[in-house]
Amino acid sequence: MLEMFDTKALGFFVPAPTWGIEDIPDLTGKVAIVTGANTGIGKQSAKHLLQSGATVYAAARSEEKCLNAIEDIKAETKRSDIHFLHLDLGDIAQSYSAGLEFAKSHDRLDMLINSAGVMTPPKGSRTKDGYDLQFGTNCIGHFAFSQPLLKLLRSTAKTAPANSVRIVWVSSAAHFLGSKEGIDFESITEVSRVSPFYHYSQRHVCEMLHTLSERSKLGSIHLANECANRLRDDGIISVSLRNISTDLQRNMWLVRTFMPLYSASLGCLTQLYAATSTDVTMADTGSYYVPWARKYHPSHPKANDPDSQRSTWEFCQAQLEKVVGPTVGLS
Ligand SMILES: NC(=O)c1ccc[n+]([C@@H]2O[C@H](COP(=O)([O-])OP(=O)(O)OC[C@H]3O[C@@H](n4cnc5c(N)ncnc54)[C@H](OP(=O)(O)O)[C@@H]3O)[C@@H](O)[C@H]2O)c1
Repeated sequence: MLEMFDTKALGFFVPAPTWGIEDIPDLTGKVAIVTGANTGIGKQSAKHLLQSGATVYAAARSEEKCLNAIEDIKAETKRSDIHFLHLDLGDIAQSYSAGLEFAKSHDRLDMLINSAGVMTPPKGSRTKDGYDLQFGTNCIGHFAFSQPLLKLLRSTAKTAPANSVRIVWVSSAAHFLGSKEGIDFESITEVSRVSPFYHYSQRHVCEMLHTLSERSKLGSIHLANECANRLRDDGIISVSLRNISTDLQRNMWLVRTFMPLYSASLGCLTQLYAATSTDVTMADTGSYYVPWARKYHPSHPKANDPDSQRSTWEFCQAQLEKVVGPTVGLS
């Protein structure tokens, strides 16, 4: 219960940033993918990576929206090495094949920022494959996309400078609202067999707060930590973080009333720090960051539980295999 009032973790009092865009190192020669790059924090992240010299792949489900965002970014940065990558995280087969095609046709990937996310869709929303929309998009979709890219990250890490190859999983302070037992996988796969009251009792605090993404964001931390365990020997850093309330939450009255709101251009700082800062080393793999660019601890008691993180990874792997069969990444 105390964790619920961890104001530092929740972002009520955020000290002024001590790391800024100007601290991003030169990224010339590096390749980055940012999911959800057509808008919000993902778009800002893509812009600053491009500005710092990286080749950037802006992954999004809408080509039209993303090409418009790319035009804005090109105009602002006066750089052109940014490209659209079609990715629909609500579709397991498409997400996997997007990652697989990228891995086949590129010889390096230095930074993967899994920034896309769904928050507060209408109740009962599902992915194409029938999963709860938030867990399906934020966790299963990102897992399906990242899985075939892990080999490419691995091969890149063999020749890249130490500590430079990274995978960043964007979580949220909302992860602390998940049931204290952790993620109930049955409610994600068999929604129709679970009574509405069950959902209510599992989610009622979140309903009050108008935020339903708690399980998926706990899942993002699990995936980051399990990825850190599995890729530690390959020299790849995997971290999770929580972002900050931006004006994108202007329609969420509770958030707007009690939390300070920031711009997306400031909101992107923590994930850019996690993806690029030379302060982050292998000793930090599996860490969790909070605004702005500070290492902290996740609030949920199961966030760093090894069994829970393994279960989340294995659950996502099993859902992926149901759709695409045996996979080429790490199992
Ligand atoms: N902003 C905040 O206050 C806040 C706070 C805590 C955590 N976060 C987390 O930070 C991350 C970035 O947030 P944000 O503020 O930038 O959110 P945002 O502006 O709402 O952007 C979300 C992005 O995810 C994309 N997306 C959603 N479903 C997708 C799918 N099926 N396939 C591919 N892309 C999909 C959206 O694409 P469309 O435009 O096509 O919908 C959009 O590009 C998210 O993971 C969010 O949960 C944000």
